[in-house]
Amino acid sequence: MKKLIGLTGAGISAESGLQTFRDHNGLWEQHRIEDVATPEAWKRHPERVLDFYNRRRRQALEARPNSAHTGLVTLEATYKVHIITQNVDNLHEQAGSTSVLHLHGSLFSKCSDRDRRIAAPVFEDIPLDSKAPDGGRWRPDIVWFGEAVEQYGPALDLVKTADVLVVIGTSLQVYPAAGLVDFVPYGAPIYVIDPDPGRQFNRFTTVIAQKATAGMTALLDML
Ligand code: APR
Repeated sequence: MKKLIGLTGAGISAESGLQTFRDHNGLWEQHRIEDVATPEAWKRHPERVLDFYNRRRRQALEARPNSAHTGLVTLEATYKVHIITQNVDNLHEQAGSTSVLHLHGSLFSKCSDRDRRIAAPVFEDIPLDSKAPDGGRWRPDIVWFGEAVEQYGPALDLVKTADVLVVIGTSLQVYPAAGLVDFVPYGAPIYVIDPDPGRQFNRFTTVIAQKATAGMTALLDML
């Protein structure tokens, strides 16, 4: 089967009730990145960082996949589908996607702030100053601004061998995730589903300027 890579961002989860970052009323309008999503913020006021992610984890637990998430599962009948997501919710997994790579971590994992490799699942609030086995403090297992995107290598390998790339609900403003689009093999079809696609794409691209659920319906008719 041909390999279809799905590159998703916050927009695919918008219709499941989860906020995006850069839309009107988005998360980065309500919080400053440097206050909640950097290693310096963690050192300066860990309680504010924990509160930001504890709230988002509670909201993500209430959310359910929408038909854009399930549409990507449907495509597994005719393509080898790998999802590369910037999202930290688990809606792709809940929908049944069998291959999901989280570039920016997950709300449902915590790691030691001494050694990120020491990690454990988490589905409730992470309390302040709770200790990991190595004596570090448990922190959200999220890739903060300024931290290495450990999963970038595997993501690049996937995109470089894609037969089809489907980009859903990302402003493509954060690198290195955004740069993945430029590594698709020459001539491979790219489909972009976004009501407000923010950039130009190459001539092999079909832009479906709709929300994720309506756009997925249109895409399934095209593929
Ligand atoms: N359906 C599809 N796309 C949508 C919808 C929707 N219902 N609503 C909004 N969008 C689109 C917006 O037009 C925008 O292009 O989703 C995109 C959301 O962009 P961002 O808010 O920037 O989210 P994302 O691209 O995932 O951000 C990337 O930035 O802050 C960091 O780590 C964070 O992973 C995040 C990264």
